[in-house]
Amino acid sequence: MTKPIGFFDSGVGGLSVLKVAMEQSNTPYLYIGDTLRVPYGVRTPEEVKRFTLECIDLMAAQDPAAVVIACNTATAYALKAAQARYDFPVIGVIGPGARAAVEKSQKKKIALLATEGTVKSGHYRETIRSYDPSIEVVGVGAPDLVVAIQDGHMDDAEVEAIIARYLEEFGDFDYDTLILGCTHFPLARSVFERLIPAERGVAIIDPAVPTVQQLEAYFAPDGGDGSIQFMATDDIVAFQNIAERVLDLSGSKSVFQKVNVGGK
Ligand code: DGL
Repeated sequence: MTKPIGFFDSGVGGLSVLKVAMEQSNTPYLYIGDTLRVPYGVRTPEEVKRFTLECIDLMAAQDPAAVVIACNTATAYALKAAQARYDFPVIGVIGPGARAAVEKSQKKKIALLATEGTVKSGHYRETIRSYDPSIEVVGVGAPDLVVAIQDGHMDDAEVEAIIARYLEEFGDFDYDTLILGCTHFPLARSVFERLIPAERGVAIIDPAVPTVQQLEAYFAPDGGDGSIQFMATDDIVAFQNIAERVLDLSGSKSVFQKVNVGGK
């Protein structure tokens, strides 16, 4: 039997990464969203690390082929610890996202919209600068956007006003590449595309795309049976509603289950 690929996020954001993977393969997937303790972006590095490992432990019990930390904040603060802890590969989103942005930016000016935790960690900046130290990176933390999307606002006036406000914070920084550095944000991609007109020539980077390219080796050779086990640490009905809006589950055998973790 093919081993599942696991996805972890603080909430519904990782669904944007799972969505890209589902477009490639019907291999079995596991997903856990720590909806009880979201948002992670305003938490201490120690909390993010502990919560992340507690959640991945739940998937480790199911012997996954690999686990994706489909959360930038958790990648920033827990990827190394997770890679040391488990005997399966653990893949983060920042390395692939940073590299894709470097490849796109002609002007060498990259804007990063992420959680405050991700911006503060300096992880994107360091990774980008490891490719080219002359690249300018400006980061803006967007906590209200995480909350709005987690609450299901993905393409309405409310989320549009929030995104517009955060984009203004880049001021006159003349970027040609914008990293959606929180996995919640691609769920509102259509709003970003509306607010940043094509003639500005800004490439919008979703790190999910290059991240999923790394999963090919773990996809079921027979195409997979489309089974997906979703877990959330809080109200499973609220989580399921958003998952069903974001993903096409018609060809999948999906189950939704509330799970318990260590406490707030
Ligand atoms: N989706 C997450 C990320 O990519 C975290 C959002 C949050 O919990 O603050 O950073």
